[in-house]
Amino acid sequence: MIKVDNLTIAFGSKRVLDRVSFHMNEGDKLAIIGPSGEGKSVLLQCILGLLKPDSGSVEVDGVDIINASEDELDVLRKKMGILFQGSALFDFMNVYENVSFPLVSHSDFNESEIKTKVEKTLNLVGLKGASNKMPDELSGGMQKRVALARAIVRNPKFMFYDEPTSGLDPVRSKAINQLIGKLNNDFNLTSVTVTHDMLSLDKVANKVLFLLKSKIAFYGKVSDIRNNKMLISFINGDADID
Ligand SMILES: Nc1ncnc2c1ncn2[C@@H]1O[C@H](COP(=O)(O)OP(=O)(O)O)[C@@H](O)[C@H]1O
Ligand SMILES: [Mg+2]
Repeated sequence: MIKVDNLTIAFGSKRVLDRVSFHMNEGDKLAIIGPSGEGKSVLLQCILGLLKPDSGSVEVDGVDIINASEDELDVLRKKMGILFQGSALFDFMNVYENVSFPLVSHSDFNESEIKTKVEKTLNLVGLKGASNKMPDELSGGMQKRVALARAIVRNPKFMFYDEPTSGLDPVRSKAINQLIGKLNNDFNLTSVTVTHDMLSLDKVANKVLFLLKSKIAFYGKVSDIRNNKMLISFINGDADID
């Protein structure tokens, strides 16, 4: 469960989020959409405890993110997979080393368990046999798959994706969105995806949150978008929302 209540944050005199509130149930898959610079990544970072809001509260899996101790956050972060904007792979590590990194760095598993998990995860994202490749030998789409594998290898309960298809062409974007949808469903994840791929919303999400002028302009089911004229205009790219 994720509960965001009255979240407010400003940078200098610029208020980015203004009393943003929404609740997600276990298994919900939320897409956050909106024009660029509206605070979508800031909202995600507040949920992850990477940014402290000026006021309001965030609860993830029963943990009060803002007031939690480092130990509590550590426990919670093991249940969270994060795919940041850009793939952020370690360019000096091969695919295997990149994907095994979250397992090795937490040392809960022995070497053969790690090998099994990494190989299974690489299969899952369509990267069988790519273990020894270096990131710069891979296409942008394959790099995203490595980053996805690294995010999901610890079997998280929650996944957070920030613009997972940025920099990809439409065909590769569609494939990545399909893969995200499959991972979300197969592992019954509770997920939050910041995205600008309006045509793939239903692949990655069942709910959508539209952030506009630092407030929530729409929060509801993806299937209800068709009843919302403002959202339809935004999706069609002809909204006069500035
Ligand atoms: N750490 C920060 N310090 C100062 N300003 C920031 C910081 N992070 C984001 N901002 C500003 O907050 C606004 C929202 O940013 P962001 O959440 O990244 O937008 P987007 O919706 O495109 O993800 C932008 O004006 C950005 O410049
Ligand atoms: Mg962003």
